[in-house]
Amino acid sequence: MSLTSSIEEPESEHKLRALEDRAREAYRRSERQAAEYLEELTVLVRSGKYADELTEDFDVWKKSHVRPWPARFFKSRVGPQPQDYDLYIRWMESAGKLDDYLERSVSYLYMRDLGRALNDPDTQKRVRHTAAGLKRSLLNAGGPQEDMPTDGFDMAALYRWGQQEGIQEAVIWMIAKMKRVSENIPEGMSAEHAQRKLLKIIAGVVLHAREEMDEHTPKAERSRRLDEAVRLGYSYGLTYPFVDDLLDSDLLTDAEKARYSELIRGALLSGRVPKWDEWNHAFESGGRNLELIRYIHGELGEAFEYIKSRQAEGMDSAFFEQAYVFFEAQDVDRTKSLEDGGYTADQLYVPVILKSSGSRLVARSVGQADEDGGFERRTFFYGIYNQLADDFADLFDDLEAGAVTPYTYYWKYRAERPDLPNPFEMYWAVIAYLIRDVYGCDPNTREVLLDRAINGLKRARRRLGIPRYEELMELLAPGMPELNKVIQKMVKKAEDVEFFDKLLRDRMLTEMKRDREERERFRGLLDEIRAEIDEALPIASDSPVPFVGHSLIDAANYSLAGSGKRLRPILARLTATEGYGLSRESVRPLLKSLEYLHTASLIFDDLPSQDNAGIRRGRQTLHARYDGATAELSGLLLIQQGVREQSTLQGFKAETVLELMRYSARKAEELCMGQALDLKSRGLDLDLERLNEICFYKTGVAFEACLIMPAMLAGAPERELKLLEKFAYHAGIAFQIRDDLLDAEGEALNLGKPSGQDEANGSSTFVSVLGIRGAKTAMWDHYCEASDAVRELPESLRFLKHLLDVLVQRER
Ligand code: IPE
Ligand code: IPE
Ligand code: MG
Ligand code: MG
Ligand code: MG
Repeated sequence: MSLTSSIEEPESEHKLRALEDRAREAYRRSERQAAEYLEELTVLVRSGKYADELTEDFDVWKKSHVRPWPARFFKSRVGPQPQDYDLYIRWMESAGKLDDYLERSVSYLYMRDLGRALNDPDTQKRVRHTAAGLKRSLLNAGGPQEDMPTDGFDMAALYRWGQQEGIQEAVIWMIAKMKRVSENIPEGMSAEHAQRKLLKIIAGVVLHAREEMDEHTPKAERSRRLDEAVRLGYSYGLTYPFVDDLLDSDLLTDAEKARYSELIRGALLSGRVPKWDEWNHAFESGGRNLELIRYIHGELGEAFEYIKSRQAEGMDSAFFEQAYVFFEAQDVDRTKSLEDGGYTADQLYVPVILKSSGSRLVARSVGQADEDGGFERRTFFYGIYNQLADDFADLFDDLEAGAVTPYTYYWKYRAERPDLPNPFEMYWAVIAYLIRDVYGCDPNTREVLLDRAINGLKRARRRLGIPRYEELMELLAPGMPELNKVIQKMVKKAEDVEFFDKLLRDRMLTEMKRDREERERFRGLLDEIRAEIDEALPIASDSPVPFVGHSLIDAANYSLAGSGKRLRPILARLTATEGYGLSRESVRPLLKSLEYLHTASLIFDDLPSQDNAGIRRGRQTLHARYDGATAELSGLLLIQQGVREQSTLQGFKAETVLELMRYSARKAEELCMGQALDLKSRGLDLDLERLNEICFYKTGVAFEACLIMPAMLAGAPERELKLLEKFAYHAGIAFQIRDDLLDAEGEALNLGKPSGQDEANGSSTFVSVLGIRGAKTAMWDHYCEASDAVRELPESLRFLKHLLDVLVQRER
């Protein structure tokens, strides 16, 4: 019987009960297994055998990590700091260290995330293959992307990877989902953290899927499986921010937390998501969290259904059982209090063993890998190794947060509770156990595990500072004096123990932080500039023509007001001030002229003879509010106002201003031609090339003008003008595709103009030619091209990247 089938039929109490019993039994079974494992480790610690074994291991290990003293004395091989990512990688290559570094790192990944045994020849082959691919992508930045990129949330890099694997749609879907997640992450929880974790989980599931295939897998099948892996990874990854982190945070009240846990548990036990009404009342009281929970309910529910639908017949219960064990272990662990001095070693360690192996077991079962006897066993034993390494590094933070971990508990109660195992000894015992009992003394495994352990301590020493680190060691290591002497010597002297995933993690955090800071600054700027422009726009009523003159100016001002986004003058203003250091006062006339010309184009575009639209910028269109003649004349008036503004530009050479005006006139002519082409192409079957052309003229040239005109005033070099044109071409088309998509799918209320106009008019748009899905991929293709141009432009124009994000992700 499968869970899926039990959902479709009316569920009998009886069946549900049976499912629940099975999941609970699975938990008890895992608990027993973990307790046995703990017992073995405890015996190993007590006997001290692990310390002797490891001391011997280090004796072998150090030969390839500690250079003899004369060589060390001339220590000149200090490379660049890992923060200088590209430089560091290139230095590693020139110092002949890169191959080992990548093999070590990939080996570790295969062992940890894929549960592989490193002494297996097939694994070794794959490790070498993957490391070689990684090396190629690293040394050839901008070249083909072999792995799913995880060094920051770089949408262009992600999309390019998707293109290569033929899974653009899944990547577009994921980008949209991730955006929604970060928008919905409540204050008090970190959106970056959530994004980073999600990306990591998705990459993990993708890795599993990739490993199940080889060069004989047909391309279409490969795409299908990777597409599914991305969606499964997201669906499962969602539980990290919205179950685990949420329950760890202070956002929910205790009662809400209890109810929330109960709901999640119920869903995992029954294989069905409770209806919103069942969730609803638990959060009503406070009201504060209701919206959040409503979003989470919808999103988690969808994820849950997706995972369920993807499980092969008979495998779904395995997934839900694993997930239940994982959830339950975390829940048990979470509800512990550091004030309670009475936990037994079992109570402390068993949930830790279960939750640390659980995350990887679930990541694998969500992708429904074929049975492989060794995987589960290895993964089960492995998890706690990682957990003890992480908890060690976080000891002081955890103490502050009052979190119970083996370390914090030992720290607090070691004097009164001599029965408690020392977690640091446990950690090393796990390493010895893994090397001998799990991986059969394989030299590769030993190498990688010891590299990792020494690297972890080196990092901790750097992070905590030497005095604090030493204080910690005095407390944790007295039970293993011999081994500790060796370890501390290695921490100081050993080389070549770095790992790529650590570099990637550090880089990802820096990139995301930088990105967020820039984005926040950019958003602030947008608001500021918009206000500035709004204030400058209205045309003064100093008309010499009585009565009629005023009313024409009023009509023009009517069109200028309303919910215009002011994207064009904003673009020009940022290019002028941020990009080329011009003063804001000096370019104000230019900004006004751009918005006047644009607004005129909208007035004409809306006329019955063109798109025949009744609403614009959230209000009636000009011809609807007044009449056709007023609309035409106001449009002309706005164009003249634009020319007039340009002629008032001060502080630039007269020839430059004249050249600018000539350029402006030409672009306005091109826009007219674009509009004419657009109208002529109604009802025709266009090819993509023709469509791009129309779109460039009707929309792209205006964007181009906003970039080129300030650059002209600043006397920018030809090379930059070319790049700006390239950016504008792609950004402009991407913007119009988004406009077409919004016309097809958007909400009129949001847009400030009716949706569905294009279809009603029989217009040829990206959506009518390529369909919604095709239009989306085309938009992202242009996004990537535009984003390439930004990378080649000077740093001061980096805001263009954020602007581009706004263009393709806007809802209006
Ligand atoms: C609409 O431009 C015309 C197109 C090129 C699609 P905007 O979407 O920038 O319109 P406003 O200025 O914000 O009203
Ligand atoms: C218009 O494109 C482009 C202009 C330069 C006016 P659309 O006709 O798609 O613009 P909307 O959707 O009416 O804003
Ligand atoms: Mg139009
Ligand atoms: Mg229109
Ligand atoms: Mg449109």
